[in-house]
Amino acid sequence: MKNREDYTEANRTMWNETAAVHQTTYVDDLLKRIKAPDYCTFDTVEQRLFEQIGLSGKAVVQPSCNNSRELIAVKKAGAARCLGLDISDAFITQGKQLAQAAEVDIELVRANLYDIKHEYDNQFDLAYVTVGALGWLPDLPSYMTLLSRMLKPHGKLFIYEMHPAMIMFETESGSTVVNDYFQRTAYREENDADYMNPDAKIESPSYWFQHTLGDILGQCIDHGLNINHFEEYRHDISNVGAHLEQSEHCPPLCFSLIAQKN
Ligand SMILES: C[S@@+](CC[C@H](N)C(=O)[O-])C[C@H]1O[C@@H](n2cnc3c(N)ncnc32)[C@H](O)[C@@H]1O
Repeated sequence: MKNREDYTEANRTMWNETAAVHQTTYVDDLLKRIKAPDYCTFDTVEQRLFEQIGLSGKAVVQPSCNNSRELIAVKKAGAARCLGLDISDAFITQGKQLAQAAEVDIELVRANLYDIKHEYDNQFDLAYVTVGALGWLPDLPSYMTLLSRMLKPHGKLFIYEMHPAMIMFETESGSTVVNDYFQRTAYREENDADYMNPDAKIESPSYWFQHTLGDILGQCIDHGLNINHFEEYRHDISNVGAHLEQSEHCPPLCFSLIAQKN
């Protein structure tokens, strides 16, 4: 049985391996495109919700920012201070390349979220959590403590994530139920196809954790984050669930949540 540090360290190794695959899969090309003033990663759900939240002049933190392509879009959409945090050395290096190519001033820091103490407390108007962030985190309560601490009073948490019901379904095709929605032990993957380039295999083992909707909503409530928006959708934002959109009984595939600190 691994502890939290073992899990996150194993995941760090896997993400460093993944970064090299992504560099040739799409980042070399993105380095050319990201200069455009209208570069944007938001889909229609994010467009609508960012209009509601308002990005102009806001201080934004993105935990698990990966190579910061989404944070660069947030900056280009008018945010002021932007901080991206990620455990992967290689993705932070890639993010700095992209930020330089985009000619934007954002802060990118390599950090295991669980090692962050009080250095960012009460500094952000918005915490932006995007697809594929929550499942790599073995300890949701400590993560929510960090997020609520980093927000200023009345600051907002915006999550746009894969729906936890997705874990139940086979990933290749069809909508056969193969996993327990309430599984509490880690899912271990090894030699898995990369989610951006299915032809590439990622050899390093990694660990994924199921957080149910009840866990996520409950943690917001427990941390004084008042939920003022929640919606579920039948479109896939993950690159691994598109086949479920077409299935006879489409499960919820993603959700958006906005919660405000007291
Ligand atoms: C699928 S990406 C999600 C980011 C973004 N939505 C994207 O599509 O690029 C997950 C990220 O979480 C990061 N991560 C995983 N565990 C972490 C931890 N304990 N602390 C900080 N970052 C972590 C990984 O390095 C990876 O870049």
